[in-house]
Amino acid sequence: TTGKFTYDPGFMSTASCNSAITYIDGDKGELLYRGYPIEQLAVHCDFMEVCHLLLNGELPNQKQKTDFVANINRHSLVHEQMQFFYRGFRRDAHPMSVLVGTVGALSSFYHDSLDINDPEHREISARRLIAKMPTLVAMSFKYSIGQPFVYPRNDLSYSANFMRMMFSMPNEEYKINDVLVRALDRILILHADHEQNASTSTVRLAGSSGANPFACIAAGIACLWGPAHGGANEAALTMLKEIGSADKIGEFVKQVKDKNSGVKLMGFGHRVYKNYDPRAKLMRETCHEVLNELGLQNDPLFKLAMELEKVALEDDYFVSRKLYPNVDFYSGIVQSALGIPVSLFTGIFAMARTIGWIAQWNEMISDPEQKIGRPRQLYTGSPVREVKPISKRG
Ligand code: SDX
Repeated sequence: TTGKFTYDPGFMSTASCNSAITYIDGDKGELLYRGYPIEQLAVHCDFMEVCHLLLNGELPNQKQKTDFVANINRHSLVHEQMQFFYRGFRRDAHPMSVLVGTVGALSSFYHDSLDINDPEHREISARRLIAKMPTLVAMSFKYSIGQPFVYPRNDLSYSANFMRMMFSMPNEEYKINDVLVRALDRILILHADHEQNASTSTVRLAGSSGANPFACIAAGIACLWGPAHGGANEAALTMLKEIGSADKIGEFVKQVKDKNSGVKLMGFGHRVYKNYDPRAKLMRETCHEVLNELGLQNDPLFKLAMELEKVALEDDYFVSRKLYPNVDFYSGIVQSALGIPVSLFTGIFAMARTIGWIAQWNEMISDPEQKIGRPRQLYTGSPVREVKPISKRG
């Protein structure tokens, strides 16, 4: 242990840190944002209230919420030149590759006017990132299908705005469905922050050098893309489609138990939760609500997912290893039902997690004691030795 950083080679984790934002009890399956249980926030709040909470430490009253939302809306447009970045990508580029590029490019518009030691500049950067992510994600989708970009509107809620930017056409306005918008809002709340996960640690480490916050968030997006992290929701849906039907579950579970197969039960297991991920329960409920609203109660993938979950929770291989569903197990099914393409699932995760990343970045940069992160290693290489002239090397 060196001061406030601890290094635990057993888990190859890097530095841990002090934070007052999110608390997880992995054994109890508890998740609190600034002390509020996720189960209560997901039911009583919308995503903008949760953004205010994570960033400022308190839930907003009505006036604070109105001002906060107005400020976010004011920043939801991106510079007109941003659209030319999209034109450089292949139409079939993975949206996460586009997002890494376009969010990183945002720093070119703000870098020279940004002093991260000025709390006001940090707050404006946070607003810009929260506000522009839905616009950038929706633009990556529109570009991939050859449809014109749709501008955000200030009279719509955050999630309604996103759904409209995704699915509206110049000749056919998207019809906003409040149940679906509420479902998306809850998905964003459930993914908003999660303590020092891999992508948040990436943002903190990048930010500790004083780098531009837009570039730090781009680094977090790159890390989130991995299938062991944010890419798991895409992988979990692909897994369900490959299993195909309930009578194939036994064969699949056999493959998972065969260590040589390399097959994992995607959407299951967690580095911290050794109990049920509270977000997974809320995601399954959201799934139910959306499928009922759309008359898809008998959605075969949802039924297959519930059967697979039941089988795994009764199988000693998973129970003995404390493997439970995590946030990604059901999120793919509900996002599919909302019309979101599989390739964009992790982009939605990044859109949600941006508030967590920027709140954690802000907490770190505001700490006057903060120093550049410098995780250490356990050296396992050669002891010191002399260099021989090349003619003498074997
Ligand atoms: C997210 O950190 C965060 O907070 C992340 C996240 C967030 O909000 O930011 O919660 C989001 O990333 C959720 C996780 C999404 N990933 C997946 O669903 C991918 C599938 N899950 C696994 O790859 C895995 O569970 C991890 C990566 C999530 C955790 O891996 P660990 O730390 O190796 O898990 P472990 O140490 O608990 O494993 C114990 C045993 C091992 O087997 P043995 O060596 O004991 O025989 O369980 C096995 C593992 O091989 N195991 C699995 C498994 N996960 C662990 N076996 C089959 N399927 C799985 N999913």
